Amino acid sequence: MKTESVVQTVPFTGRKRSLLDDARRDRESGSSASPGPSRVGDCCVFEEKNGKVLLHVLFALSNEKNSGFFKAGKVFETFEAKLLHVESRPRKSKNNTSDLEFLIKCEIHTSDIDVFINSLKRVADDVRTVPEEKVPWFPRKIRDLDRCNHLVTKFDPDLDQDHPGYSDKEYRKRRAFISELAFNYKQGEPLPRVEYTPEEISTWRQVYCTLTNIYPTHACRQFLDGLQQLEKECGYAEDNIPQLRDVSAFLKEKTGFQLRPVAGLLSARDFLASLAFRVFQCTQYIRHPSAPMHSPEPDCCHELLGHIPMLADKEFAQFSQEIGLASLGASDEDIERLSTLYWFTVEFGLCKQSGSVKAYGAGLLSSYGELIYALSKEPEYKPFNPEEAAVQPYQDETYQPIYFVSESFEDAKAKLRQFSSTIQRPFTIRYDPITSSLDVLDRPGKIQKALGQMQDELKTLCQALESLGQR
Ligand SMILES: [Fe+2]
Repeated sequence: MKTESVVQTVPFTGRKRSLLDDARRDRESGSSASPGPSRVGDCCVFEEKNGKVLLHVLFALSNEKNSGFFKAGKVFETFEAKLLHVESRPRKSKNNTSDLEFLIKCEIHTSDIDVFINSLKRVADDVRTVPEEKVPWFPRKIRDLDRCNHLVTKFDPDLDQDHPGYSDKEYRKRRAFISELAFNYKQGEPLPRVEYTPEEISTWRQVYCTLTNIYPTHACRQFLDGLQQLEKECGYAEDNIPQLRDVSAFLKEKTGFQLRPVAGLLSARDFLASLAFRVFQCTQYIRHPSAPMHSPEPDCCHELLGHIPMLADKEFAQFSQEIGLASLGASDEDIERLSTLYWFTVEFGLCKQSGSVKAYGAGLLSSYGELIYALSKEPEYKPFNPEEAAVQPYQDETYQPIYFVSESFEDAKAKLRQFSSTIQRPFTIRYDPITSSLDVLDRPGKIQKALGQMQDELKTLCQALESLGQR
């Protein structure tokens, strides 16, 4: 599904592969969390502002005659209620007549609420106000990821005049064909294979050869290890674009991560939610041949070269999943902070290794120009601090003026865990790797069960220690 509202309301700005900008757009396009509810009389109301409130009211009307509908409408008219959303659905009443149930979102004067509700009760049945969902929906099971498919379509070559493929009909047709494979994909199905053309392989070759030349001096040890294994086991080579199916099977064995095809740039919320399940959403089409060193949107070069080698590292995989877990059910403001954090770590992060600074961010490791620049004396370095990175202004017209340098992934993970605990949610989540699902720990029984499982694991570890002592 494509998020047209994002497309229509948000002007395009600068560099296009930014989860950070995307999260900000989501927020500015009107999906901000409600500060409510507060209570007036026996009603739940939201967003009291300038003497007016937002009210969600549910009521039923008999279908026997239509007069109730017009009378209810008159009540809304009399109280100058501004209608914002109307839904109806059939409902079986107690006396077996077919009624209609209505959900209306409206804005009304605060002082009128009680009289308004009482007036509505005189002409309709089962009048009640309903609390607004305060926690945004999030996937609970891995197959719920089929619903995490909201794209930011502004960056498609069909819509973006700056895209190198904008005026190339054949390229757009090919990209649409590969994207369609992702649109039709359902969790658990075999990942689609793409037969790449000689021209596509030629583009890959240029990117692969240019980047692999500078990796030994610029990439971190974990990245180099991962790439070496991928070359050995997954067909990473200058003349071959690896298949997502093979890469996914490789990662599953190494770190439990798996891939899922995606048709383009995902919304920040959906992308981060996938990471919570150790699923990395991966584009399968390749950039336009006229610009092999630059792509305005994520493509298979960025994913396969920038991201995948790092996902073969256990510490990094854990770090990625923890950002995802922190995002579930978070407010739009927190999604923006996490996206910024993701930007300055997973996309543009640097780390210390054996006395020098190396790159681990995929945005750097898939961009020759920025990789050289990031490890030159030009940019400013700051020690990685999630609170600071999460609100660091983002430069989208040129390379980053500031990069965050982690002491190690262990250190980054510990700091991220501390940061995640500051994100306000009325529940705690625990990932169950056996069922690839999430336990929301909202009842004492669930917490006790989780503690029991941990006790069993601790027993195993204690036994292992004892066995070592006996040797
Ligand atoms: Fe990326």
